[in-house]
Order: sequence, then structure tokens, then C-alpha cells
Amino acid sequence: MAEGNKSIKNDVVHKLVKNFLSGNLKYDLTQDEINELSLDKQEMFLQSTIHSPLYKQYPLKVEFCRLFFKKLIKYLDQYSEVHDDMYEFICSLMKIKNEENTFCYRHYIFQNLNDIITIKETNNMVINGTTGMKTWEAAIMLSDWMLCNKELFHNKRLLELGSGVGFTGITIGKFCSSKSITLTDCHSDVLNLLVENIKINFPDLQKTTTLQFPSFKNEHKVIDVIKLDWHCLEDIDVNYYPDIVIGADIVYDPSILLPLCSVLDTFFNRNPHLQVYIASVIRNEDTFNQFTKVLDNINVAVDKVVPSECVFLNWDKEMKRCILKIIKKT
Ligand SMILES: C[S@@+](CC[C@H](N)C(=O)[O-])C[C@H]1O[C@@H](n2cnc3c(N)ncnc32)[C@H](O)[C@@H]1O
Repeated sequence: MAEGNKSIKNDVVHKLVKNFLSGNLKYDLTQDEINELSLDKQEMFLQSTIHSPLYKQYPLKVEFCRLFFKKLIKYLDQYSEVHDDMYEFICSLMKIKNEENTFCYRHYIFQNLNDIITIKETNNMVINGTTGMKTWEAAIMLSDWMLCNKELFHNKRLLELGSGVGFTGITIGKFCSSKSITLTDCHSDVLNLLVENIKINFPDLQKTTTLQFPSFKNEHKVIDVIKLDWHCLEDIDVNYYPDIVIGADIVYDPSILLPLCSVLDTFFNRNPHLQVYIASVIRNEDTFNQFTKVLDNINVAVDKVVPSECVFLNWDKEMKRCILKIIKKT
């Protein structure tokens, strides 16, 4: 991945590819961008999307594809020629009836079109009683910030709480040089999907399973997946102490704030130099403030970290957001 604080590329093909592969319909094209989309550029877009091996292996939701191409054709056909393959593609989608699967693939592209993470997930906010089956905006924001501050995570043991489908952990595993990454969640369906996503993104890592939990390794990388329910501190191996704990969108339910805090306290007691980074979208100020109050009970210093501005990844800058850095008070 390219180093440094470069802003996301402005090229219209890159923009369209990113939006299409990541399943985002909320994009707009300016008149200049539409003018730029010659047939050659449209061909480039098609080769990087619906004609790519990635899309063929891990296709996106049919309905999303239909809406995306409909919108793109609408932009194009007023001002320029539309590539035949776009019409053909839309027709081919019409033949697919009753898309039953609630799961789909999303391909998140970083600065460089070759740096891609594929995540199998749902659109549903809650499914089977968990919020963990989709990538939340805070996960993208936290990943972006971590990629801008890679040196903090170099050679460190990282633990992620409430990993969900694994976007942040997989991003760090792919692009940072941490010593090890342990991804955790409490829900078994979420853990299974997380494992599936690790396999998709790290096909070369060797999988071993001990005590029912898988570990993915090669000589440079270790990614462990374990069940960790914040209500069950006994889930935490007594010999394990991370250098850094991260979490994205895990401060949303008042009933889990105390248990979450106890988990942090446990790790602070094992390693007083522990650093914790928690990224949140603040939907409810009261819940967020309650979390900072609960943190007061465990003798920690809490600081707000300024999130980056969509450097490697696009995320919703309009949302009220925050990354907290938590360390032990000296
Ligand atoms: C809103 S999702 C965020 C998932 C992921 N971090 C992201 O941002 O895409 C919250 C996650 O916290 C997990 N979670 C909720 N309560 C938990 C608990 N008591 N113990 C462990 N994980 C929990 C859920 O299973 C879910 O994966």
C-alpha cells in the first residue's frame, strides 16, 4: 500500500470502481466526470468490475448491481455513448430471479486499486440477534486512522473487541506489521463469518485449530480468532496480554458498558502500558457519555484522537464520530 497522507485518488474510473465494488449507491458524478467517461474509460471500469476475476468469484447483490448500472447509464446516455456491455449486463441480471441469499460480497478498495479487501456480509443492521454481520462505518473510519498511524501498531500484539465480520482486523492484518492480531466476538454466527472472511483475504495463511478456535499463520503473520463475551471474563486466557486493544462501534448498548469496561480493566491490570482505541459513531450522546463515566471507575485517562479525513478509505464524514484513546493513569 502507498505510504503517507495522500488523499484518495480523484480519477473518475477509480471513483466508480470503488463505489461499485464496495456496494455504494450514494455517489454523484459531476459534468466534468461524465465528459471524461469515454468508451475507453468505460471499458476500464468494466474490466475492473463486472469482467474482473474478483467479481466473478465474489459477485455483489443483483439488485445493487441493477440499480448501480441504471444510475450510471442515466448519467451517461444524455451526454455520451454508453458501452454495450452495460446494457448487456443489465439484461443478464434480469434473468436472475429471486435472489435468496441475504449475504453478499463487498470489495473495499484502498488508495491503490490492487489493495482490496473482500468481505462477506449482509445489509441487515440486526440479523439472528446480532449487529455483527455487517461492516459498520466506525470500522472503516478506525481502519483509515490506523493505516495513517501504522507505526503505532508495528510489532505489537493487537486484540480487537467485537470484531463483527472483521473489516478492521483484516485491514490491519493485511497492511500493518503487527506481531499478532486476535479477533474476537461473542456470537457464533459472527465468528463463523469472520473466519470465512479471513480465509477469503488470506488464502495463503495456514489454518490450525486448537480448543475449537482457529489460528491463521505464516512466518510473518498470526491472526487468531477467539470467542470473547464481555460478560464472561473467564473466556479470556489468563496468559494473554495485548499491547493494544481496538474496537469499532462497540459502545451502543447501555447494558454492555460495564462488562466492556471490566474487560478493559482486566487487560490494564495485565499490562499497565496497554493502549486502547475505540471508534464510535455517536448516535446517542447519553450512551457515549455514560461510557466515559464508567471508564472513570477504572482509573484511566481518556483522550479524543482526531480521525483522519478519508485518506485510504471513504467513510461518511457527516456522521458524529469519535476515536477514544484510553491509557492507564500514571
Ligand atoms: C455494531 S457491531 C460492530 C462490528 C464491527 N466492529 C464493525 O464496526 O463493523 C458490534 C459488535 O459487538 C459484538 N458484541 C456485542 N455485545 C458483545 C459482548 N457482550 N461481547 C462481545 N462482543 C459483543 C457484536 O456481536 C458485534 O459484532
